[in-house]
Amino acid sequence: MTELETAVNKRRTFAIISHPDAGKTTITEQMLLFGGVVREAGTVKGRKTGKFATSDWMEIEKKRGISVTSSVMQFDYEGKRINILDTPGHEDFSEDTYRTLMAVDSAVMVIDSAKGIEPQTKKLFQICKMRGIPIFTFLNKLDRDGREPLDLLAEIEDVLGIETYPMNWPIGMGKGLKGLYDIYNKRVALYKPQGNHAYLDLDENGDIASDEPLHQDSQWQDTLDEVELVQSAGNELSEDKIMSGDLTPVFFGSALANFGVETFLQSYMQFAPAPTPHKTRDESVIKPTDDVFSGFVFKIQANMNPNHRDRIAFVRICSGEFKRGMDVTLERDQKSMRLSNSTQFMAEERENVETAVAGDIIGLYDTGNFQIGDTIYTGKNDFQFEKLPQFTPELFVHVTAKNVMKQKSFHKGIQQLVQEGAIQMFRSYSSNDYILGAVGQLQFEVFQFRMQNEYNSDVLMETMGNKIARWIDPEQLDERMASSRNLLVKDREDQPLFLFENQFAENWFQQKYPDVKLTSRL
Ligand code: G4P
Repeated sequence: MTELETAVNKRRTFAIISHPDAGKTTITEQMLLFGGVVREAGTVKGRKTGKFATSDWMEIEKKRGISVTSSVMQFDYEGKRINILDTPGHEDFSEDTYRTLMAVDSAVMVIDSAKGIEPQTKKLFQICKMRGIPIFTFLNKLDRDGREPLDLLAEIEDVLGIETYPMNWPIGMGKGLKGLYDIYNKRVALYKPQGNHAYLDLDENGDIASDEPLHQDSQWQDTLDEVELVQSAGNELSEDKIMSGDLTPVFFGSALANFGVETFLQSYMQFAPAPTPHKTRDESVIKPTDDVFSGFVFKIQANMNPNHRDRIAFVRICSGEFKRGMDVTLERDQKSMRLSNSTQFMAEERENVETAVAGDIIGLYDTGNFQIGDTIYTGKNDFQFEKLPQFTPELFVHVTAKNVMKQKSFHKGIQQLVQEGAIQMFRSYSSNDYILGAVGQLQFEVFQFRMQNEYNSDVLMETMGNKIARWIDPEQLDERMASSRNLLVKDREDQPLFLFENQFAENWFQQKYPDVKLTSRL
């Protein structure tokens, strides 16, 4: 194996998908503790609340108590190099959150076992599903009373449409939590609220020694019955199905009590894929171990500090090795550029990176050269990675220039920010007004800020609220179909779509025009 192959095969790059409060920060922190990157629990959480925020990179980030360093966290564990990409929730949710999922090889889905599948998990899951990447599920907060394990598995299968395989099974829950029956490793992990969880081996019948106190517990027999049931009636563990994203291994545990997290991490490392090949637009495939360096920009973070106009472009390396100072070609305009100002993200701080390989994420300081979706490469072979998908926006605003005399900078700003992928733009059919669409409120705030700071254009934004965007085949369109409850607009490529006021309005429309086919992007 070449040095590059060895290095690439060590990489495991994933994102955690979850609904806010399910425990993403807590589990991330436990993983960083295992990786020896942070020594104390509370470091990442502290950063989230602003206590440890040291970066002055982005005003909005600072205000919100997150920092660019937490966008990508890298650490070593048991001979592997792990990259965790953050997928912000709450008000920080944006198209970037979705695009981040284009840059990972697998995903970890954290679910609150009392709540089950929540809306944000579902949205993020759908993108992982579309990509066909492996998804590993952690059902969290077992130390609290939650829903029945069987019920949770059924919900994952029904709502998300993915098969499940329980890798372990809870022995009680909440105050009655005794431990985990580790189906995969054939052992029992005993739960001790103060930590120091111990293990018991299972005999060939899947039982524990009869003199163990747990054996006398009524909970034990219940667990054996349930495990037998899921093993006989449930799915089989299939590595192929995990790899294609058709089956998710499910782990129960408690991130806060650090119970089941290490076993989860170990199993994850056993099954999760090393960096996978990426397709180009002409259907050829770039292998991660190719000598040629290549990557694509999946996120651009603008600096909100007016004294520092620079931005940071996040690049997923798809093949070869990055070396600081190397020359690459920017595919879009065939320009050659030197990558001298780069950064890599460690869990503790931003560091200048000297080398990185396929699977890693690097941040490139950018003065406006990059756009989301850009391909960069070395070598003579010209290629472009597959187009990043456009996501269906859910929030809309009407936007106009505050100062009518400054139309030129207003138009220029909008065009460029839309092209960069910061926001989506639509035009009203009837009035040709500008309408902006986003998946999260933060995108509008960033848009407004950047219009003012980078284009000297004050904008007025009038909220239109949540809408359901559905595209319609131009052949089927009759402009009279539009109404105040389904606004007719066109996208950047002049494709027509309706913005429905709510689900009721869409259903009503479909009943009235049963032959009209409406589509969402994702
Ligand atoms: P997030 O990043 O997904 O938004 O979730 P986060 O880890 O911040 O966890 C949300 C809340 O759930 C936190 O409580 C956290 O302590 C708690 N939590 C996470 N994992 C577990 C678990 O396994 N068991 C229990 N019982 N609670 C868990 P909080 O009160 O909002 O924050 P804090 O005041 O404890 O920091």
